[in-house]
Amino acid sequence: MLSAATFHFHIRMYFGVDYYPEHWVWPYAGTCEEPEARWKRDVELMTEAGVNVVRMGEFAWGLYEPEEGKFDFEWMRRAMNLFQSAGIKVVLGTPTAAPPVWLAKKHPEILPLDERGLKKYEGTRRAYCLNSDVYWDYTRRIVKALAGALGTHPSLIAWQIDNGLGGHFTEASFNEESRRDWIQWLKAKYETVERLNNFMGTRFWAQGVTRFEDVPMPMAAPTVHNPALVVDWMRFCSDTIVAYARMQADLLHELTPNLPVTQNLRALTRKFDHFDMAEVIDFVSVDSNATVKTKSSENACEIDMMRSLKKAGIRTPDGDTGFWAIEQKANNVDWQDVNSLVRPGVVRMFTHQLVSRGATGVLYFLWRKPRIGSEKFYGGVLSHDGHAKNRVYQEIKEVGRELARLAPLLKGTRVVADACILISHENDWNLSSVKQPTRAFRQRDHVQLFYNAFHDRNIPVDFARPTEDLSRYKVVVAPSLQLLAGGEADLLKLYVQNGGTLVATFNTGLVDEHHIAPDTGYPHDLTDLFGMEVLEFDPLPLGEENHITLKGQFSASQMHPAKIWCDIIEAKGCQVVGTFAKDFYAGRPAVTLNSFGEGRAIYIGTMSHQFFYNDLVVWLRQLCGINPLLKVPDQVEVSMRQKDGTKVFFLINHQNSPVRIPFLKPMHDALTGRTLTGNQDLPPHGVMVISEETPV
Ligand code: GAL
Repeated sequence: MLSAATFHFHIRMYFGVDYYPEHWVWPYAGTCEEPEARWKRDVELMTEAGVNVVRMGEFAWGLYEPEEGKFDFEWMRRAMNLFQSAGIKVVLGTPTAAPPVWLAKKHPEILPLDERGLKKYEGTRRAYCLNSDVYWDYTRRIVKALAGALGTHPSLIAWQIDNGLGGHFTEASFNEESRRDWIQWLKAKYETVERLNNFMGTRFWAQGVTRFEDVPMPMAAPTVHNPALVVDWMRFCSDTIVAYARMQADLLHELTPNLPVTQNLRALTRKFDHFDMAEVIDFVSVDSNATVKTKSSENACEIDMMRSLKKAGIRTPDGDTGFWAIEQKANNVDWQDVNSLVRPGVVRMFTHQLVSRGATGVLYFLWRKPRIGSEKFYGGVLSHDGHAKNRVYQEIKEVGRELARLAPLLKGTRVVADACILISHENDWNLSSVKQPTRAFRQRDHVQLFYNAFHDRNIPVDFARPTEDLSRYKVVVAPSLQLLAGGEADLLKLYVQNGGTLVATFNTGLVDEHHIAPDTGYPHDLTDLFGMEVLEFDPLPLGEENHITLKGQFSASQMHPAKIWCDIIEAKGCQVVGTFAKDFYAGRPAVTLNSFGEGRAIYIGTMSHQFFYNDLVVWLRQLCGINPLLKVPDQVEVSMRQKDGTKVFFLINHQNSPVRIPFLKPMHDALTGRTLTGNQDLPPHGVMVISEETPV
């Protein structure tokens, strides 16, 4: 019979690197006689570092198919064979992120046109129009050939679709095929030209059309396009990119049904709906650029956003839930003005941060600094010399050992949150792409203020889009949903009606899904929910401030400024919790609370500094009965993964100095095997993984 220890030994977490075997052949490595000789050494070094998975091949089309129809997958098979014999699994990218030069030469119409109608040329990656039928056909062909050749290789555990879809601002192109698909999309949405004219409000500046074919794409023009059209265009571009990914995912599911499909996403920086994209894939993977962030809560926020994209139906290669960090930067990046080295211990800390927030696989970008190409100064696990005596290799080896130790404890655990912040891509596109009452407002900063307040109090947060079922959350924060669909407003009401606590803010419900402003007061469809109406709003110039005077239950630790935007609110049955201190709206409500159904709706009619949101969370904790995970000194980031009776806490010190942590009851330290009692010092950039569970 297997002992518990032996059994646990077999539970492992996927830990690996992004490997480019094509970079490490003669004349850059190996010998003339044995051009691929270096691969064996790489496999040995990876094995020594605890690597059990590699991602490969996402830019290899031109090598797989150097001439049209002449395929060569054998070099990749040889690499996969080597990994297989070392017990290392493989994720293969479909290579469509980098079309071969011959394809662009034969079919220049695949090259994307920008908003001025100018071509973006071949010679790099991502040079294709997502609406091109030719590109879709060639995509199918290479994906089929790849899956046919390597899809049954025993090392293969998952596919990655393309690479960084939408990157380098390629979410939109203005080709004739884009126009054709745009018209089709509009026809499907509006059905008749009359409906399109009415909903889009084309009579403004007399831009009405009599045929769908005449609706413009928002190309460079003397002034701004109709905002309703711009938001539709972004929906269309998002649907296009998701459709392209779905086409690949469907094909792969059909050809290799047992292999899950993923995609490497960035933290919502690209202009497509990441929630829609997450529905297409079996599990979410992320590119983490944590090396360059200084604020731990910004990293944490991005990780929580990515974890939240897919909450159900997750299929990872080892059947665990969660997401993968398929590109965790191993050291410096290469695209900042100054690409400093990541300090010793920091990559380890960022890796644990990802795992603490739900990552169930971590792969470093990239295995070795390439000697060729445009990313040759990107920090790798190995440096150019490849001898593996370097600092990063040693550090990553240690992380590999630690994750192997944690794997049995973490298996099947998940992050659970009582608090949720709503994000809506359509709203974000609207805020960033059409004329706004103020340019000083940045939604990402606004979201971060709320997030920080929860994060710094060790309260886990999920993100969701407004159409999700929110009933499991004790509190839902909806910052500045300026574009709010009628259906979304109804769902928010339903959430509160059934006992939820909703916090919304200024700049909410100013337009509906058709970009039409309400004639029934702001926020549209929600004045009854909040028991008040916003009559006017006053954007403040940068540097100018009003003040919030709080009263009663919401107590202020200090004076809180009102910045960026002040709503002029008329209370209609709500309780006034805070008022503005000056200007012609002095004494008018700034913060309100309304009981609605079984729940309550809080409205914050301005933006403030971080301390306001910290005080708000203190109040919300009392109102909603939310408890922090652990009480530890402020500088320590805490997160927890749980399963049945097991709770695994991660304590992370993002600072350069040690933090003393008092343990009131003994805890098991899963990294060292020690029992922690009394005062313990968490070193600079240190990590503790502790549990109440009796160690096996
Ligand atoms: C990623 C991409 C990698 C590499 C990296 C550089 O998004 O997938 O191939 O280019 O960016 O930052």
